[in-house]
Amino acid sequence: MITLGIETSCDETAVAVVQDTFEVRSSLIASQVHLHERYGGVVPEVAARAHVEALNPLLEEALAKAEVGLGDIDGVAVTVGPGLVGALLVGMAAAKAISLGAGVPLIGVHHLEAHYWANFLEHGPPEPPYVALIVSGGHTMLVHVPELHHHVVLGQTLDDAAGEAFDKVARLLGLGFPGGPAIDAMAAEGDPTAIRFPRAMEDSRNLDFSMSGLKTAVLRHVKAERAADRDLHLPDVAASFQEAIVDVQVTKTIQAAAQTGVPTVLLGGGVVANTRLRERLREAGEAADLRVLVPSLGLCTDNAAMVACLGSARLARGERTTLDIGADPNLRLPA
Ligand code: KG4
Ligand code: ZN
Repeated sequence: MITLGIETSCDETAVAVVQDTFEVRSSLIASQVHLHERYGGVVPEVAARAHVEALNPLLEEALAKAEVGLGDIDGVAVTVGPGLVGALLVGMAAAKAISLGAGVPLIGVHHLEAHYWANFLEHGPPEPPYVALIVSGGHTMLVHVPELHHHVVLGQTLDDAAGEAFDKVARLLGLGFPGGPAIDAMAAEGDPTAIRFPRAMEDSRNLDFSMSGLKTAVLRHVKAERAADRDLHLPDVAASFQEAIVDVQVTKTIQAAAQTGVPTVLLGGGVVANTRLRERLREAGEAADLRVLVPSLGLCTDNAAMVACLGSARLARGERTTLDIGADPNLRLPA
């Protein structure tokens, strides 16, 4: 069974072809980072236009690379939310046209469910139950998955997403956009214990997150150093900030697994590309006797292989999406 996947929820145009759900035949990503860099963040209208330009050539290339034609595909999967509505609609329009034109079923998928499904491309789907930590540019959440495709949100951010905090602090430190990879690299040269930034809600049994206090603390530190005419030691600031975020995520993830009694933790989303987060969660998982699954680096950030994989699994269960489905920027994880 050949499934085509399309992802246009934010600033990457991505197309992939998977065979029998888990085998990636091709997976291509056209990044728009260079278009948004100078604005210091993703500009929705610019993103939608860039998707329109990039999508058709990318579709052709992905099919060619997978050595299939539209006549060979058995289904088309597309992200329907959450994300930027104008951006989502570009991918959805293409997916609907292909579904109609090729006479194959359409399946709409949830972007965040797809993020942790990226793990299954490499490991196959383990038996639920598990807990998923989903950390991206727009979301930070801990989710209990008692059964395949069923989600119970255990906690989420009350303000900024983790990726957003990385991006904002990187901008403050003059490290450019996107901020996550820049801080990750800078932190490697720094001392994570140099500055003690606050760990928001780390001790509470509550599994929600908050980033605003940490962000303010970094801003205050930068201002105080400037006022005192001291040079900022960027690697130390980056490492200390990163450690504060990572500490809270590790603690809460382990706590979520303990509270629900699951044996497996799945990580997903762009921030899971973070070197320190991967390292610390692996260690913490080992110490707590948990199986921690982490997608390889290229499958953490936005891609269409994860969309095709999840869509293919849903199609195989007989699920279908009708052509009148709309984009939903605030789509909830299926309960
Ligand atoms: O999942 P993703 O590609 O897009 C969304 O669904 O939002 O996540 C993008 C986010 C950005 O905020 C980016 O700064 C962050 O992931 N990111 C990282 C790293 N690589 C990407 N954050 C921390 N460390 C990284 N190495
Ligand atoms: Zn994403």
